[in-house]
Amino acid sequence: MATTTQPDSTGSKAAQPAHVCNVALVGFGTVGSSVARILVERPNTGLRLTHVYNRNVARKKVDWLPPEVVWTEDIDDVLSSNADIVVEVMGGLQPTEDWVRRALTSGKSVVTANKQLIALCGSELIGLARQMHQQIEFGASVAGGVPVISGLHEGLAGDELFRIWGILNGTCNYILSQIEASGVPFATALREAQKLGFAEADPTEDIDGFDARAKLAILTRIGLRCNVAADSILARSISAIDAVDFEFANLLGCTIRQISRAELKDGQLFAAVQPALVQLTSPLARVEGSQNLVMATGVYGGETVFGGHGAGGHPTAVAVVSDILAIARGKQAGDTPVAQSGEKSPPLAEKSPAVTFDFTTKNYLRFLVKDRPGIIASVATILARSEINIDSVLQKPGFPKSHLPLLITLEECRASLVDQALEQINALDFMVQPCLHLPIL
Ligand SMILES: NC(=O)c1ccc[n+]([C@@H]2O[C@H](COP(=O)([O-])OP(=O)(O)OC[C@H]3O[C@@H](n4cnc5c(N)ncnc54)[C@H](OP(=O)(O)O)[C@@H]3O)[C@@H](O)[C@H]2O)c1
Repeated sequence: MATTTQPDSTGSKAAQPAHVCNVALVGFGTVGSSVARILVERPNTGLRLTHVYNRNVARKKVDWLPPEVVWTEDIDDVLSSNADIVVEVMGGLQPTEDWVRRALTSGKSVVTANKQLIALCGSELIGLARQMHQQIEFGASVAGGVPVISGLHEGLAGDELFRIWGILNGTCNYILSQIEASGVPFATALREAQKLGFAEADPTEDIDGFDARAKLAILTRIGLRCNVAADSILARSISAIDAVDFEFANLLGCTIRQISRAELKDGQLFAAVQPALVQLTSPLARVEGSQNLVMATGVYGGETVFGGHGAGGHPTAVAVVSDILAIARGKQAGDTPVAQSGEKSPPLAEKSPAVTFDFTTKNYLRFLVKDRPGIIASVATILARSEINIDSVLQKPGFPKSHLPLLITLEECRASLVDQALEQINALDFMVQPCLHLPIL
């Protein structure tokens, strides 16, 4: 930490913090350049940008950063510098993980927005930070600009949380909102999202739920204190959702969203990312476009909701700068090495319960069938054999008999029981495509 004064935007030196915390940026893309913007436009924060690292850095240079900032394409310039905090906004797993480890071992704290890195090796990195008397913060890695990690870690530290539900992927939320609003097929909504930059050219990570489950693994670790590997969480795609599902859902007083759920119950961790019906009265139903929302439920405080912009350069950069400031405040307050030793970083998980997706809920089954007599009787017979009770049956007029949508809702039962019954039902000759099975929350 350097002791200095810096002129603010008015040229005054009066209100400057006594200590300045040096910050190095690793990655100068969407988030990195927004972080730099905030650092130069808010000069009274006590933070000084010293280095910008990027490959082929010459093409990244901008004229709005102070001339003292060192632009480099050699990571050793950053790791051997006087930076107090290294901000990793480059993404990917390698060489990122090595560089984050090297930053910590060279006595620097780290701020990262990288959910893949934290989902895969967050515990080890927090451990290393503690060992090195440094901090690692990753508030931007889940839900972009929504301060859910600090909210769970600090704001709700006094509660014993047992459930976290969320909408954690803006791309899926945007696509589902579009199908709902315009009645377009999934493929059209996806193409539109790609054209507008809301979906990647390869959207698999988002639409198949892998992005959201990495984020859910992080929230589970912070909020429920449970160690869970992201790939042990069930992830189901939103690609089978059709406009007719929104019509059926609406008749049930619901809409459809990609929901990430983690719940501690009877010593087990129930966790899944999948499209689900949510009641129109739920805060989850009101999340539009690329917004994110997280609902945390605790034994003492009940339900708390966090919501806002889940992505985008500026909102994500706000979360990154907030993490930088949290670390800098500790350093400026002259915290002892013990207080600085990562105790402030989100905690290591304490429990490693068995992970299951076998939630008990009401269920939505949407069939596409070649119409003929006896279809409902055949389905009902198989469901009855599994002791699953039908709640309602609904058929919408106006569809061709060769592709007739049929809705059956089920009373509460375990997801695995329904899946077993569906294996038999999907083999029946009138099924045009596999049945769509969604939980009703
Ligand atoms: N964008 C968001 O809304 C958002 C929200 C939450 C979290 N995040 C996370 O924030 C991180 C950054 O995202 P972003 O959207 O800013 O990505 P981005 O626009 O692609 O920026 C990444 C920057 O890092 C550079 N880079 C990537 N790999 C590199 C390597 N191996 N060596 C050197 N430089 C490398 C890229 O250089 P090139 O220009 O040469 O590719 C680019 O300038 C990611 O972990 C992402 O998951 C982003």
